[in-house]
Amino acid sequence: MIKRVGILTSGGDCPGLNATIRAIAQSLRLDFNNDIEITGILDGYSGLIHGKYEDMTSYDFSSILTLGGTILGTKRTPFKMMRVIEDDKIDKVSQMKKNYFKMGLDCLFCLGGNGTHKTANLLSSEGLNIIALPKTIDNDIWGTDISFGFHSALNTATDAIDRIYTTAKSHKRIMVVELMGNKAGWLTLYAGVAGGADAILIPEKPFDLSNVIMNLVNNFKNGKQFSIIAVAEGAYSVKEAKMKKKERAEIRAKIGEKTATNIIAKEIEKITGLETRAVIPGHIQRGGSPCPYDRILATRFGSYAAKLAKNGQFGVAVAMINNKVTHNKLSEVAGKSRLVSMDCKMIGVAQSMGICLG
Ligand code: F6P
Repeated sequence: MIKRVGILTSGGDCPGLNATIRAIAQSLRLDFNNDIEITGILDGYSGLIHGKYEDMTSYDFSSILTLGGTILGTKRTPFKMMRVIEDDKIDKVSQMKKNYFKMGLDCLFCLGGNGTHKTANLLSSEGLNIIALPKTIDNDIWGTDISFGFHSALNTATDAIDRIYTTAKSHKRIMVVELMGNKAGWLTLYAGVAGGADAILIPEKPFDLSNVIMNLVNNFKNGKQFSIIAVAEGAYSVKEAKMKKKERAEIRAKIGEKTATNIIAKEIEKITGLETRAVIPGHIQRGGSPCPYDRILATRFGSYAAKLAKNGQFGVAVAMINNKVTHNKLSEVAGKSRLVSMDCKMIGVAQSMGICLG
């Protein structure tokens, strides 16, 4: 029987975190007839390490369904540093365990992406009762078809492309739009298809710029007088694919570019002579209110997680598989990611529309 639970949000924020927190709390309160205490751990695992937490009341969970960001705050505390003793001499793992027991928790809900799931699994293997929930605009968590935050970011990214589309058309320009996603190209792929992009460049498929330009020129020859190229933040060229990550970063640093977007835009303009602009919407994609899809998904995930806690099922990660909310073992999820494979359905859709994939 659980009496006291903790909730934390870790990693990059996204729309739907508060809706999930609300659903966990509301379901637990109903299931336990209000006889449950809920502690909010502040700023993700950092708060667990440093003992920063606040007891929450029903007031805290009110009016947060539609609120973007996270009321608990978040921070990136890299998994690879969890076992490393740094200058502050803190043993992070034993501190987290100590604080978990000091708070008197019977269960801890960890809302986050891949890194969060890895640390959640570590804590679970250390004997804590952990339930993880899948959050990320990247949609790259292994074992779940969807994570909350993705559809809201997709709406924003598509809206950005739609707005860029009209100005691209008016000016007869090439617009290179960078979308978030360092390792996974799901957001760029979906927004690119939804926004009518002519080319979609994602990290999972290194691009050949001469091929992209050839497609572009052909489109212009066939009468299209503007073009949208959707580029993921983590996209890189075939040439760069042969390099080590560090070498690639050094070469880009020399020219003052972290991502390929500006390089692509400059090269296209130089080679084709067509007016080209680069646009980077950036963190706008992570902000704002969750879309209805994410509100519902977060509510389904949160209430399912509450049931898992009630039933004493720990060491698990909530997931959606074939439109059914379920769970995987944390140990199976941790350390894996779900990237775009070239034989997935959406790649097929893009190909059938003649979209250049690099
Ligand atoms: O949370 C996912 C994400 O938005 C990625 O798409 C992106 O690469 C990264 O986070 C950016 O992280 P930060 O906000 O720490 O710069």
